[in-house]
Amino acid sequence: MKFNQKKDDTTNSFIRNNHSMLTSIFGTDDVTPFWVADMDFTIANPIKAELQRLVDRGQFAYEFNSQGIFQAISRWYQRRHDLNLDEENFVQVTGVLTGIALLIRELTEEGDSVLIQTPSYHQFPKVITSAGRDVVKSPLSIIDGNYVMDFDDLEVKLSEPTTKVMILCNPHNPTGRVWRHEELDKVLEIADRHNVTIISDEIHSDIIHSGYKFVSLMSLGAKNHVALIGSPSKTFGMQSISNGYIYTENSRILKSMRKLTESLYLDHGNAFTTFATIAAFEKGEEWLDELLQYLQGNIDWIKQFLVANLPLVKMFPVEGTYQIWFDFSATGLTDDSLLKVFSDAGFGASPGTWFGGESKAFARMNFANARQDITEAFERLKIALETNSQTAVSTTRATNKSCC
Ligand SMILES: Cc1ncc(COP(=O)(O)O)c(C=O)c1O
Repeated sequence: MKFNQKKDDTTNSFIRNNHSMLTSIFGTDDVTPFWVADMDFTIANPIKAELQRLVDRGQFAYEFNSQGIFQAISRWYQRRHDLNLDEENFVQVTGVLTGIALLIRELTEEGDSVLIQTPSYHQFPKVITSAGRDVVKSPLSIIDGNYVMDFDDLEVKLSEPTTKVMILCNPHNPTGRVWRHEELDKVLEIADRHNVTIISDEIHSDIIHSGYKFVSLMSLGAKNHVALIGSPSKTFGMQSISNGYIYTENSRILKSMRKLTESLYLDHGNAFTTFATIAAFEKGEEWLDELLQYLQGNIDWIKQFLVANLPLVKMFPVEGTYQIWFDFSATGLTDDSLLKVFSDAGFGASPGTWFGGESKAFARMNFANARQDITEAFERLKIALETNSQTAVSTTRATNKSCC
């Protein structure tokens, strides 16, 4: 099976394997990296063939084809998500975060606020504050073992006159929620009533697991809002050769974003990103379906392992994305001691503290990794957790002795 293949990680500069970053997070670089939302898999053959064609061509005169990309994305969304996107409503940017950073600057002024739902993808606060805007947090609630939006809280916070924009993350990183039609309808209604523009980050829209369906904000008649749609980055494991695509049916936002990206010369990719993106959306579907099956196998394996071996570790339902959100609080570990367990186990998941929620001893694991790496890492995690809880038990006994 192609996703199981072992890679030689010594010849690359991938962030996931970066020695100093791993050491600064885990105190060691001897960890299996589950902390970056990218893939340990080889890209689809048609994308590889297209990149090879360009290399073999050996000629790189100025060459743009944004329209070809918009057409490929539109066809993909029609086929895959039953959604009609007008090719004329796209704006190309260099990445999804660049798109959000530019939109925030266009749609708000310094001192305005941008709402995010916590726990949240950790770059969102940074992209907001680095533009001189304030972050407003609306915490998600956990009901019946899964995350839901707190609409009362949203109502209050979106009604603040300084809150001009809300970043919606759908599917949601890190919780893995794929928002339902009714939930999106409700958010849209509240935002419209308070004149708040929603930026819907839909970068994970193609990673939807069995039993769930992705609903784009753009399918709800969200005429005054914006989506970051159709980035091939997460879908096809093209994180370092991807662009971002803004989509809106609001002609004022479309015009101003076009003007801004053109004025900054940010509105086109290079030949590699351009033709790799077109190949991905035109010829990558079979590979994506196989990937989704493999990812489902990873989810099922992890779920069964936890039930059989680590019942105190809670795993939230993984509706979409290749991130799993775990709650370790029932083990009695603190944020610090959980990180020590990860370090001892060489289990390179991201500490939950990165995502700005209220929860303690949570963690996010990227699971777009070979199954063998995952199974070995969980066996080590089990041992480290057992060792750690034995320490916790003996510490409690010692404390009891000294206190009585
Ligand atoms: C929700 C979300 N948005 C944006 C990004 C980054 O996108 P880009 O690399 O295109 O800037 C990520 C990457 O993890 C993400 O999870």
